[in-house]
Amino acid sequence: MIFFITSCESRTYEEISDNTPITSVVKYESDLKPIMDSNCTSCHSASGFKPLNNYNLVKENIDIIINRIQRPAGDPLKMPQGGSLSPNQINLFVKWKADGLIEN
Ligand code: HEC
Repeated sequence: MIFFITSCESRTYEEISDNTPITSVVKYESDLKPIMDSNCTSCHSASGFKPLNNYNLVKENIDIIINRIQRPAGDPLKMPQGGSLSPNQINLFVKWKADGLIEN
């Protein structure tokens, strides 16, 4: 019975955690840079065809980044190429823009 309640609660938490609005202010250094480093800069490096490896570049390209990461699975323009960000990670980019593109 305790196991049932625990597993039920953790499943609910996972569902909520991906859809809960982000309440804290989103910042590039602490919130977005780690996502970019693990999912984007392998292709979008400083020497790449479309560098997205620092604050100014991500800031300048935020609209096209949000456009690309929100595309549906199977869309050839979806980023990251060959994968996808979680709904919570996508929400961080959207909220970062709404919060005023703060660096740190
Ligand atoms: C496996 C390599 C790869 C990864 C990983 C990748 N991209 Fe890309 N990206 C590309 C390629 C290739 C293009 C050019 C083709 C196109 O426009 O779709 C591109 C294009 C883009 C563009 C459009 C650039 C422009 O000026 O038109 C944006 C924005 C972008 N990627 C953002 C991202 C973001 C954000 C991530 C991480 C969430 C990411 N990419 C991960 C390979 C990658």
